[in-house]
Amino acid sequence: MFESLEILPPDPLLGIAAACRQDPNPNKVDLGVGVYKTEDGKTPILKAVQKAIDNLTASEDSKVYIAPQGNADFLSGMTNLLLGEQGNTDRFVSIQAPGGTGSLRIGSELIAKSNPNATVWASDPTWANHVPLMKSAGLNLKNYPYYDTANSKLKADEMLETFSKLGKDDIVLLHGCCHNPTGEDLTPELWTQVADLAVERGFTPFVDIAYQGFGKNLEEDVAGVREVFAKVPEMIIASSCSKNFGLYRERTGMISFLSENAEKTEACRTNALSIARGIYSMPPSYGAALVGLILKDAELTKLWHEELEEMCSRMNGLRTLLVNKLNERGVEKDFSFIERQNGMFSFLGINKEQIDRLRNEDAIYMAGSSRINIAGISNTNVDYIADAVAKVL
Ligand code: LMR
Repeated sequence: MFESLEILPPDPLLGIAAACRQDPNPNKVDLGVGVYKTEDGKTPILKAVQKAIDNLTASEDSKVYIAPQGNADFLSGMTNLLLGEQGNTDRFVSIQAPGGTGSLRIGSELIAKSNPNATVWASDPTWANHVPLMKSAGLNLKNYPYYDTANSKLKADEMLETFSKLGKDDIVLLHGCCHNPTGEDLTPELWTQVADLAVERGFTPFVDIAYQGFGKNLEEDVAGVREVFAKVPEMIIASSCSKNFGLYRERTGMISFLSENAEKTEACRTNALSIARGIYSMPPSYGAALVGLILKDAELTKLWHEELEEMCSRMNGLRTLLVNKLNERGVEKDFSFIERQNGMFSFLGINKEQIDRLRNEDAIYMAGSSRINIAGISNTNVDYIADAVAKVL
């Protein structure tokens, strides 16, 4: 049977880390997979998470299954984080899921089940895994214009023009904040226009939010999502704790549905649970238990806020530093967009040959799109990176 299978090429993002690990160059720099790193290149367990681990170790007395819908403290804490008071409605429900990807997959399967004619519109470009993930769920996928790489700015007019032609069979996949891969977010005005178009045209927003707190702060990063939520009759939100809680390997996420009334919301909940039952049966407990403990404890929440702010301000500082270092080298290209953009990623906007030279000559690894992980930069390697980029330009 297996003779029909062919060996697949490495994953476009995960393959970069593997290639970099094998590179013997002592100066190598991994700007690939979106993982936060400190100045010394480590991804430590957050202090708030470590305290929650200690509490959980002392209190957990069973490994019996948790409720299929998930940990109640996690679900209410995350809902509050995402939507504040707005989340207190019987039109809204959430299911714990294995990471952002697991959440997106449940959402995608539910779309395929409720509307086989649906078309999902993803930004061009979007996170490399959105496309295979949604196609695997059987969804029809199209792109909407989003980012002009040559000029490092949004294609706002083309995007709105596309949305203005959509209808009730269309789902628009939006990045809640810190757009992956470009770092270029919708402005507050554009969020308003997208929300109004969703109401007018009847398409369903599907928000992927994996970086809340990494852009400006926890509140501002969800202002657009909250505006859409307040206006539309139906919406799907996939959220992840991989980055902002640093829980990557614990696969901690949540898929949420807003529908027209309590009965339809219960239909979403039961169908999402049935889809999950058919894939992984019950959600993993550990990461969500930790988040639940943090979010229901004022002191742990405060500590987490401080750590999140530190990660966010470090990345914003690195953005400024990289732009300054490139300018110091007299590069012609205007890189100031990097400073304006949000979160973990920006496109350098260089071509494939330049990306390959950076990898082959200087062991600087980034995605094939020229996406860089800002957190992979440090005070120690920034001059090395700026020299190499100036050289290939
Ligand atoms: C990324 O975009 O690099 C991260 O979200 C990690 C992943 O799973 O791709």
